[in-house]
Amino acid sequence: MKVLVIYDSLYGNTEKIARAIAGAVTGDVKLLRVGEANVAEIGTVDLLIMGSPTQGGRHTKAMRDFLDKIPAGSLKNVKVAAFDTRIKTMLVKIFGYAAGRIADTLKDRGGTLIAPPEGFIVKGTKGPEGDGEMERAAAWAKQITGNK
Ligand SMILES: Cc1cc2nc3c(=O)[nH]c(=O)nc-3n(C[C@H](O)[C@H](O)[C@H](O)COP(=O)(O)O)c2cc1C
Repeated sequence: MKVLVIYDSLYGNTEKIARAIAGAVTGDVKLLRVGEANVAEIGTVDLLIMGSPTQGGRHTKAMRDFLDKIPAGSLKNVKVAAFDTRIKTMLVKIFGYAAGRIADTLKDRGGTLIAPPEGFIVKGTKGPEGDGEMERAAAWAKQITGNK
């Protein structure tokens, strides 16, 4: 199975989670920061996993710009999944989170969503990640790829 994990990260937490996800998947796995990824490449993989920090209730500008460039229908043969990192406070819940928005766009471009959008907790704006979140990210990756 050809898997591509694309992430963005300001302080490095989402990158760590993305590495845990990519490391837990067996097969042909590639991990790219969003700036290194090529829109033409994503339609050729079996599974595309995208993740971003939640900033102001949504994904980063680089991630939004990348998603905007994906042509309609180009993910029609691609399974997709989305994750984000987020802070666990009541206040931010009002604004929503990045993963659901990423998933919506990937579905809109023809992708088949294979798991509900997932959020991983960071303890503060700059991190670190919450206790057990790296392990949970690896378990999530194994679960969605059927590699338990
Ligand atoms: C400008 C900015 C806005 C943020 N807005 C939110 C938010 O709306 N909801 C939330 O849960 N976390 C918010 N956060 C916290 C980020 O989710 C957190 O910094 C991020 O998960 C860390 O990941 P990174 O190290 O990959 O950047 C915000 C952080 C920044 C810098």
